[in-house]
Amino acid sequence: MGHDMTTTPRFVFLTGAGISAESGIPTFRTPDGGGPAMWAEHSVDDVATPAGYRRNRNLVHRFYQERREACAAAEPNAAHYALAALAAALGDKVLVVTQNVDDLHERAGLPARNLIHMHGALATAICAGCRHRVDAGVYGDRCPRCRDGLLRPDVVWFGERPYEMPRIERAVRDAYLFVAVGTSGEVYPAAGLVDIARVHGASTVELNLQQTSGLFDETRLGPASRTVPELVKNLIG
Ligand code: OAD
Repeated sequence: MGHDMTTTPRFVFLTGAGISAESGIPTFRTPDGGGPAMWAEHSVDDVATPAGYRRNRNLVHRFYQERREACAAAEPNAAHYALAALAAALGDKVLVVTQNVDDLHERAGLPARNLIHMHGALATAICAGCRHRVDAGVYGDRCPRCRDGLLRPDVVWFGERPYEMPRIERAVRDAYLFVAVGTSGEVYPAAGLVDIARVHGASTVELNLQQTSGLFDETRLGPASRTVPELVKNLIG
């Protein structure tokens, strides 16, 4: 399907686990009051690396099936809805780059053209061979297209390259405003996008419960369900 690139994104949002915390989805590193952090409960090496997948596919499939169930039980919160409203108001000037594998941005109504899942998505599985995508839930099966590769979670693991980096970097270079929402800034290359934004002259704002890197022009502290709608209200006017 063709993508209309006539309008360049000017408002680029990078979202992380913190934007979904108030929907009841645990963050990875910092407990958010709703329970222990994901990477305190599960070994990253076992469930989020290619080597872990080679060692024990069933364990990895079970882990992502649990994530998928937690995601299905969750609802978008005011932060997701605010970003969808911004895209409805400003169209292709808005791009949301999410590190999250949940589908709460799309369920809040954010159109696919305004959203990039740089770390993949729970909703799909991908053929390890030919990269064909199918709906998730059919892991372990052979790919229906090439009939050879194994279907694996469509999630970017440690040691793998995030999806769509050229398109993301282009958008960040052209941005007027770069906003990071609910991300710890510990995982690259996502954590380096703020540097690209700054070098190319964007204003940079961080919305988080706490200050992270100190690399942003401005940090607004508070839960995303409050800070994101406030910022969006200012942008829409
Ligand atoms: P982290 O768990 O590292 O960080 C979550 C951030 O959200 C922290 O900075 C919290 O302070 C903040 N936070 C928590 N609740 C919040 C709220 N209600 N409102 C605003 N901020 C809140 O999650 P990510 O930065 O998304 O990658 O993690 C990045 C990547 O590491 C993930 O995409 C995942 C993980 O390993 C892969 O699996 C490849």
